[in-house]
Amino acid sequence: MNATIAIKEARTEHDVHPLIRQRFSPRAFTGEPVSDQELLTLFEAAAWAPSSMNEQPWRFRYALRGEAPFEALMRSLSGGNLPWAPNGAAIVAISGMKHHARNGQPNASWGFDTGIAVGNLLLQATAAGLYGHLLGGFDHERAAELLRIDAESEGLICLLLLGRLGEAEMLQEPYRTRERTPRVRKPLGEVAARISG
Ligand SMILES: Cc1cc2nc3c(=O)[nH]c(=O)nc-3n(C[C@H](O)[C@H](O)[C@H](O)COP(=O)(O)O)c2cc1C
Repeated sequence: MNATIAIKEARTEHDVHPLIRQRFSPRAFTGEPVSDQELLTLFEAAAWAPSSMNEQPWRFRYALRGEAPFEALMRSLSGGNLPWAPNGAAIVAISGMKHHARNGQPNASWGFDTGIAVGNLLLQATAAGLYGHLLGGFDHERAAELLRIDAESEGLICLLLLGRLGEAEMLQEPYRTRERTPRVRKPLGEVAARISG
């Protein structure tokens, strides 16, 4: 088994589902392809997320490694993502529609809803032995132009690199060490509390 998997698995206080413990954001990807079918399964998992008024504001545009839009999106990445991201198998641009389709009014929860959908997508990926790494470090304007996203109606949130897990040895420093460092979280008491009163 890839040694990174054991290092990265979440050590939890409570009985958290293995799928949630096993998801993590790797930087080492093998470069092996993923199929349209595999990706469509992830998007369908995302589509079954809850959303305000069932508006499903999320939008996913994707490209496979080797295709021109993949390479163009790679060129929009900021410095820290550039050394390793090109080994991913697919890149997904994650965006959301800002207005309600029903009445054209602003939809206050488009970003929240899209985040829930992406959570579904990432867990489905984990179940399928695929890994995802969200990327906010890129030139948003350049990418939005490339994707023909109209900022008035649609918000480009981030990119998601998907692929199969590679070995930490593939990476240069400091990424190699990061790949071998266990994940950490804030103490539960800092983010969750019983309402007093
Ligand atoms: C909106 C968003 C943007 C992110 N942007 C980047 C990024 O540009 N580069 C990067 O290496 N990781 C990025 N990450 C990944 C986070 O750093 C990562 O999820 C976090 O450190 C927790 O690690 P884990 O996903 O392995 O549990 C981003 C995550 C989110 C949700």
